[in-house]
Amino acid sequence: MDMDGLRQRLAEAGQSHLLQFWNELSPEQQAEMQQDMGTMDFKEINGFFKNAMETSMSQTKQEKIDNHMEPVPREVLGSVTRDRESLKDWDKQGLQCIAQNKVAVLLLAGGQGTRLGVPYPKGMYDVGLPSHKTLFQIQAERILKLQRLAEQQHGTKCCIPWYIMTSGRTMESTKEFFAKHKYFGLSQEDVIFFQQGMLPAMDYSGKIILEAKGKLSMAPDGNGGLYRALGTQNIIQDMERRGISCIHVYCVDNILVKVADPAFIGFCVKMGADCGAKVVEKTNPTEAVGVVCKVDGRYQVVEYSEITLATAERRASDGRLMFNAGNVANHFFSLAFLRDIVNTHEPQLQHHVAQKKIPYVDAQGQLIKPDKPNGIKMEKFVFDIFQFAKKFVVYEVLREDEFSPLKNADSQDGKDNPTTARHALMSLHHRWVLNAGGHFIDENGTRVPAIPRHGPAGSVSTGVTQNLKDGTDLPIKCEISPLVSYGGEGLEGLVKDRELRPTLVINEDGLHELVKNGL
Ligand code: UD1
Repeated sequence: MDMDGLRQRLAEAGQSHLLQFWNELSPEQQAEMQQDMGTMDFKEINGFFKNAMETSMSQTKQEKIDNHMEPVPREVLGSVTRDRESLKDWDKQGLQCIAQNKVAVLLLAGGQGTRLGVPYPKGMYDVGLPSHKTLFQIQAERILKLQRLAEQQHGTKCCIPWYIMTSGRTMESTKEFFAKHKYFGLSQEDVIFFQQGMLPAMDYSGKIILEAKGKLSMAPDGNGGLYRALGTQNIIQDMERRGISCIHVYCVDNILVKVADPAFIGFCVKMGADCGAKVVEKTNPTEAVGVVCKVDGRYQVVEYSEITLATAERRASDGRLMFNAGNVANHFFSLAFLRDIVNTHEPQLQHHVAQKKIPYVDAQGQLIKPDKPNGIKMEKFVFDIFQFAKKFVVYEVLREDEFSPLKNADSQDGKDNPTTARHALMSLHHRWVLNAGGHFIDENGTRVPAIPRHGPAGSVSTGVTQNLKDGTDLPIKCEISPLVSYGGEGLEGLVKDRELRPTLVINEDGLHELVKNGL
């Protein structure tokens, strides 16, 4: 694009201020800025801004969304606790779909991980497990294990393609990381990276913000940027070419995520659903999870940032929260549904507005870091397509088995951080060992009680672990490789009737490996 053309497009869109420092830039900076702006459609961006602001203003003025919310009805709900008798069937059905190479997984990994505060993609984070596996590696190994389980049970060669959505901020480092680790044992051609779009941050009058004299302030366009990217990057065609019919979409940060969970997939398939959401029971009104519900008769997620406390605190007659279907950001989509979204509905999806403190250069060229919000970022959300589903279902799972997200850095009494993620995984694996008939003993050879103790700080510990500030025992250090067990299966032969000492690591090689050094 020539410079005159760019100047004209900016003028027509009322964004000429972006070139106010043009003459102060070096030729390299000019070239870079020209390239960044060359592909941007400023009129379209102005349209996004106008619509997003109008929607967000009308929501604040009008009656709150809360007054239109209804809980998920029982008939669309499947539950791992209440429908135990169906679980085996669902699991079988899902594994069969996997064996027929009909299932793909799609990871949303374009976020910036601002709250965790690391300069690299969240999936590369090591929460400090004995193995020091990263989130990416844990997920890759779960995929590998499922492929093997499907192959063993159905005798066919099986592949679960892994689509990974990154953003301008995470693409290169994510790809390098996978290449360096040889795709964690998966075939390179079955790990498909694609990139979501970016949008500029804007001030309240709709002017794009400059974060440096030659640089626009840009951010990924939200995890709902997925749908545009699926079209522009030809991902739907790739799925069609591979014969995929079901897609499990999930977020990078949940250490317990059951990637391509056969029971969830089987449940959705048996229900004839085109769209499904996995949930856990929300028990604390202020927990930062969206809730799946109906609004004006259509399914959607009301985000934690959009619900009022009064509604979040409402309780049903059984004493549980009325809106308790906590979104764990694990979704099922049929390919036909996704195709329809990409071809028809994507442009109808509205951007949500997030008010932010956005660093900017002022008219004098000084970098200012505001102490109150000065502009907005615009994001689409992955679940905004639920409203278009013809058959929507909800699948409820147990939090302790399936949900422990990594959002924040470690801090005292913190939530959703590396320590809670590590503990959640080790506690799950501890239970798997007990369920398979194994026992843990402390350094004196005494059996450790199955249930960690809760008690006042400073009270006598079991001896195996240190205790936490609140007196609760740390979980037993136990980690089972996903290559050994996907969901707790196949462990009896390894642990039944054995007395085991923490730290216990069960790996593929040599079946089991005991590290007898306690902590
Ligand atoms: C998300 C859900 C919330 C749910 C919670 C559970 C959304 C919009 N909200 O909230 O309802 O209860 O997880 O943990 O899904 N991402 C991108 N591109 C982006 C922005 C984010 O790919 O532009 C990815 C992130 O890498 C991450 C996921 O989306 O894997 C979720 O992003 P995050 O910002 O952590 O969502 P939450 O606000 O925690």
